[in-house]
Amino acid sequence: MTREKSSASLMDKIYKNQRHYYDLTRKHYLLGRDHLIKQLSAPRGSTLLEIGCGTGRNLIEAAKAYPTCQFFGVDISSQMLKSAEANVHKANLSHRIHLAQGDATKFDPFEKFGIDTFDRVFLSYCVSMVPHWEEALDNSARLLTEGGQLSIVDFGQQERLPRLFKLMLRKWLGQSHSLPCENFREVMEHLAEENRAKLRVQPLYRGYAYYAELDGSFYTRFMEKPEQMDLLHAGNESRREVRKAG
Ligand SMILES: C[S@@+](CC[C@H](N)C(=O)[O-])C[C@H]1O[C@@H](n2cnc3c(N)ncnc32)[C@H](O)[C@@H]1O
Repeated sequence: MTREKSSASLMDKIYKNQRHYYDLTRKHYLLGRDHLIKQLSAPRGSTLLEIGCGTGRNLIEAAKAYPTCQFFGVDISSQMLKSAEANVHKANLSHRIHLAQGDATKFDPFEKFGIDTFDRVFLSYCVSMVPHWEEALDNSARLLTEGGQLSIVDFGQQERLPRLFKLMLRKWLGQSHSLPCENFREVMEHLAEENRAKLRVQPLYRGYAYYAELDGSFYTRFMEKPEQMDLLHAGNESRREVRKAG
């Protein structure tokens, strides 16, 4: 079985029944999703893609918040997509939300939607479920238009939570095939450098979750001043050195 097929069948197994009560339960612990939607600040008429869109909850909320934009959603689980399709239809948004099945690590949107890149790409509580999550992030950044923005919300390192709570949370997350990515910041820093984008990582709820953003418009704004880019990279480099020393 290929890697994609085995991930798809695992996700289908997990969500086959859960999808029926998913939205009701997840609103209590998939925190920060509305924060991400707010941070999208989607320009008029722009295109937005959610990778790992699940039941379509975020796409529907975002489509309401940005009524002039077109939305695209991809998920590896055909079970989750069944719920997403029904929800999008129920919300009367089928003309603005388009769905397809695909693997975050290698999904090609041209095949599915006929477009190559998006002004905004976002992942909400998906990165922690993808074993090869670095590849998913690489692929996500590749799908951005120049000056676009990649936004991610997911479980954090829980650094400021009580130890017992953290232990119990980790155990439960492990059972749900969802694990906080250990070296997430380093991977994002590398991606920011490669894509000449500005990185912002914001812990949420005492480290329970984080919001991360790669802002490509930063580079576009500074294209005419290459010396500013050198300063940005020097800043990234010295921050890394300080962290290594610490
Ligand atoms: C915890 S749910 C989050 C759903 C939605 N983004 C939300 O915030 O409610 C994770 C979703 O990621 C999907 N997923 C897991 N691995 C994936 C992969 N390799 N490619 C695409 N989607 C994937 C799952 O099928 C599931 O729908």
